[in-house]
Amino acid sequence: MRKLTIRNVCAWVTLVLASCAGQPEVEPMEKVIARGLDAATEQAVLMAEALENQEGRLPKSIKDGQLETSDCYWWCSGFFPGELWYLYEYTGRPELKKYAELYTQRLENVQYVTNNHDVGFMLYCSYGNGLRLTADEHYQKVLVQGARSLSTRYNPAVKAIRSWDFGDWQYPVIIDNMMNLELLTWAGRTTGDTLFTHIATTHAHTTLKNHFRPDYSSYHVVSYDTLSGQPEKKQTHQGYADDSAWARGQAWALYGYTMMARETGDEAFLNQARHIAAFLMNHPRMPEDKVPYWDFDTPDIPDAPRDASAAAVMASALIELSQLDKSDQASAYQAYAEDQLRSLTSPAYLAAKGTNCHFALMHSTGHFRAGSEVDAPLSYADYYYVEALMRLQKIYSSK
Ligand code: GLY
Repeated sequence: MRKLTIRNVCAWVTLVLASCAGQPEVEPMEKVIARGLDAATEQAVLMAEALENQEGRLPKSIKDGQLETSDCYWWCSGFFPGELWYLYEYTGRPELKKYAELYTQRLENVQYVTNNHDVGFMLYCSYGNGLRLTADEHYQKVLVQGARSLSTRYNPAVKAIRSWDFGDWQYPVIIDNMMNLELLTWAGRTTGDTLFTHIATTHAHTTLKNHFRPDYSSYHVVSYDTLSGQPEKKQTHQGYADDSAWARGQAWALYGYTMMARETGDEAFLNQARHIAAFLMNHPRMPEDKVPYWDFDTPDIPDAPRDASAAAVMASALIELSQLDKSDQASAYQAYAEDQLRSLTSPAYLAAKGTNCHFALMHSTGHFRAGSEVDAPLSYADYYYVEALMRLQKIYSSK
């Protein structure tokens, strides 16, 4: 039975008044959260069953109407195991734990990856959530080794971690790289080795200085001269143009600085997150349902494909920002995220059970310019959607 709290009574009075005034009833947010998490659970279990006997495979997207999978070295490999951990936390069902363990284990070799920066995404979402929920010492060992591998990509002359080893850039650092820093701040706390924390905070300060334009939108790629340590090129790889605002890049920036504000307490990171949030929330080309087009500057708006993954990352970040920011903006961040989650939990984005090759969300865009994963489901859209709902549920249940 629902608890008799002031909040519940107010919600009930609002509903009664709204229906008396002939307005359509607004579904209470707690129900939206439960509906979204229940739907994600049903789809994730079907996905886990479908790939259970395909050794080493992890869900990626849909290609030519079929489920597309990857091995553990694709940058997205950790999202499905991470989603399963969140859904185990939500349901408490042993079946979810069994699958979370099975799919996490498929990433075991990622701890030794040193040829790209995505180790943080891959391990912290999978093993990180596993450790948080089980305190399994083996998970801790894998994470510490992963942090060591990631740290090998740091260059003290540039004061940043190198993102990629391909392309003709001298030293490419992409805004997405902010997301990999949480593995390092965690490792610093856990091992007491301050080098991990130093690398993470220095990378974040370098990115803050060089990646942002005066309006707080972000370049995708900044390449550095390895001798001078200064930027040599500011470009895009996945966005519409070098000076455009690629939607997911902006969402990574918002999430990255919010997370680093939480991890370090550094006011500069919190302020940066506030500015990025303002850029996104006030953007004239943000659609009414608050699910961004894949790039804010693509000329085919309003016909351009959306990116539900950007909305999910943004919602999760805004919910965290609403808890860190003690100004009167806090409630606006939460309200905006709630609008995004209502949109994502509507039939326009949330797939019906058994459809969408068992992904929860439809309509994300991976790499538009390469013609890859356009208007498609993506494992990270589902991961950050579930994370956002879990974060919001915690806020509601603590009231
Ligand atoms: N980190 C790659 C992407 O966001 O597509």
